[in-house]
Amino acid sequence: MKVGVGMPQSSDLYFASSNKHKYQEAKKILQSFGIDVTFYKIELEEIQSDSLSEIASRKAAMAFGKLGKPVIVEDDGLFVDSLGGFPGPYSSYVFRTIGNKGMLSLAKNCPAKFVSVISFSDGNISKSFEAKIDGKISTGIRGDGWGYDPIFVPHKSKKTFAELENKNDISHRYKALKKFASWYKLE
Ligand code: IMP
Repeated sequence: MKVGVGMPQSSDLYFASSNKHKYQEAKKILQSFGIDVTFYKIELEEIQSDSLSEIASRKAAMAFGKLGKPVIVEDDGLFVDSLGGFPGPYSSYVFRTIGNKGMLSLAKNCPAKFVSVISFSDGNISKSFEAKIDGKISTGIRGDGWGYDPIFVPHKSKKTFAELENKNDISHRYKALKKFASWYKLE
């Protein structure tokens, strides 16, 4: 599985998700580390757990079981400090039910963090990489982005993720994929 730095290599690595935004960001980020990924569009069953890492690693094992090729899966959560980390692992459900308007009414201007866990599985090795970005919930919906991007303001920024041009250079996803890439290239 050795991959060199420089031009992206054609590899047998897949990114399993039903979310094309996540895949598009992950593809760009991994390309910057010289790793190519292919989209494996699939709705994977999610176990109920308070641990993103447990959720992601179970999904990676399931994805490998279906695909039979080395695969990564990402699970994320938006954690609001004053809400005891809510919605955390339930971020997807909360987004679908109350959306950004609902989150604003619960947590306007409150410190929060985004956490990403990337889990890899190839049937033999299973490994997870976690990273976070601190920030806060904005005071209004700003910018044209997906998910919570229009209401998340990263630390030291005045702009939301949706307004920023360099989200992919600083995000939770970037940091977790950077850790994954350093490991993957040495395997
Ligand atoms: P899951 O990992 O698919 O369960 O995603 C958790 C929730 O967080 C979903 O509602 C996503 O839309 C949202 N989410 C994850 N990453 C991001 C991001 O980078 N920007 C905005 N929303 C995100």
